[in-house]
Amino acid sequence: MTYDVHTSSLNIAGRAFKGVAYTTLGMGLAGASALAWGSFERRWPTLRHVHVTLDPSRNIQPLTILHVSDLHMFPGQDFIEDFLRKVTATNHIDFVVSTGDNFSSVDGLVPLMRAYKPLLDYPGAYVLGSNDYYSQMPKSWARYLVGGHPQKARTTPDLPWTELTSAFHEAGWTNLTNRADTLSIPVVLAPVARVSSSSTIAPGASSPSIHEAAHTSQTLSFIGTDDAHLNRDRLPIPLDSWANQQNLRIGLTHAPYTRVLNAMTDAGADLIFAGHTHGGQIGLPGFGAIVTNCDLPRKYAKGLHSWRYGTHQSFVNVSAGLGTSRYAQVRIATRPEATLLSIA
Ligand SMILES: [Fe+2]
Repeated sequence: MTYDVHTSSLNIAGRAFKGVAYTTLGMGLAGASALAWGSFERRWPTLRHVHVTLDPSRNIQPLTILHVSDLHMFPGQDFIEDFLRKVTATNHIDFVVSTGDNFSSVDGLVPLMRAYKPLLDYPGAYVLGSNDYYSQMPKSWARYLVGGHPQKARTTPDLPWTELTSAFHEAGWTNLTNRADTLSIPVVLAPVARVSSSSTIAPGASSPSIHEAAHTSQTLSFIGTDDAHLNRDRLPIPLDSWANQQNLRIGLTHAPYTRVLNAMTDAGADLIFAGHTHGGQIGLPGFGAIVTNCDLPRKYAKGLHSWRYGTHQSFVNVSAGLGTSRYAQVRIATRPEATLLSIA
């Protein structure tokens, strides 16, 4: 009897043990599969095309803006260099905006400059993020998913951000770190056919036509901030060009804290570009991004959105970025991306 009871207990304990073992094994396999997928997906960038229509009475010229963000460069990220080279080789681009977090570590400068090389042929503007000043530190997933501020306030930048901004400056890019500025860029309109005025067309031959690209220009007026995640954001007073209805009003910031988006929208920005969120970096089916790493609601974690504040409305493009922390080299349901925004 004692034996039977003992046996029965053993059987129950054995079944319980097996259940726990299978559950643990299943979770382990699911976790390993997710990590394997996440390691693949984070090297699988995509170019997201979005379109914005502005009030036709503004007479804003049609143009395309390439938005890159959060490259978080460190050696071995050849896929970012290859991707940007291909994007510039296969797309028409009028202007480039970069919204910061270019580095993961100090040794990222050389590959970062290689990645930016094809972009610096275009006119551009930029702001910086925390990972342009301070290198990334190991951070637990639990801490990342809970969100919050950087682990420890650092005051001495250890990243080569001045080398980066010098390269931007040499290329003629506009620094919008807590600054306002204005810039006129050339815009190539759709080619138009012009019939030749030649009088020597043979009888029966069709009139030769020459496809000519019509050129014009578009004035851009900017406001930008330093990284709100470090509380370094100081919204500048817009220049006089901001008030001209025929100028495109653009806001740039790294971390899309609502106070920055509200202030830029209140100022009358047509477009606002931001990064920082990595689109959540880990997405759950049916739920989306778990965190935005700032006070932005999760539904705005990536993509083009309409943002309203008071009586004003802006289009906000939040980039999921191209890189990851070197300490968390995984993306799930959140592919690395750049955005090609077309204005009609
Ligand atoms: Fe970032």
